[in-house]
Amino acid sequence: MKLLFLNGVNLNMTGRREKGVYGTQTLDEINAEIAAFCKARGAECEFFQSNIEGELCTKLHTTDADGVILNAGAFTHYSYALRDAIASISVPVVEVHMSNVHAREQFRHTSVISEVCRGTILGFGKNSYILAAESFLL
Ligand code: DQA
Repeated sequence: MKLLFLNGVNLNMTGRREKGVYGTQTLDEINAEIAAFCKARGAECEFFQSNIEGELCTKLHTTDADGVILNAGAFTHYSYALRDAIASISVPVVEVHMSNVHAREQFRHTSVISEVCRGTILGFGKNSYILAAESFLL
């Protein structure tokens, strides 16, 4: 089982931006914990982050993973390109958010990708990624 952890726009700033919302750990630190979790569960993992919408679409088109855990960041709320990219592949994608987007600004309450994702996990900080990975390993 190979899992791709795909992070979108501004997630590279994790640990440095809005620390009260996203915590103080960097994305590299969080990814190291996820990698340890995957290793312990016998799963292979790959990490990719981009601030560029098209790069995320291409990564989805070309992935050889069995499952994708996607935090699209703000692209979640308006990227029909990302939605179409998810719909164009047969690999299941689980949408994740570290924060509880429904307890935040109105514009974050809409996800244009949820409908084409297998499921959504949100509001558990870095553990949202772990819980999403777990859904593939049950
Ligand atoms: C986020 C929530 C989005 O609304 C926001 O734009 C992000 C991060 C989260 O992980 O909580 O960049 O996806």
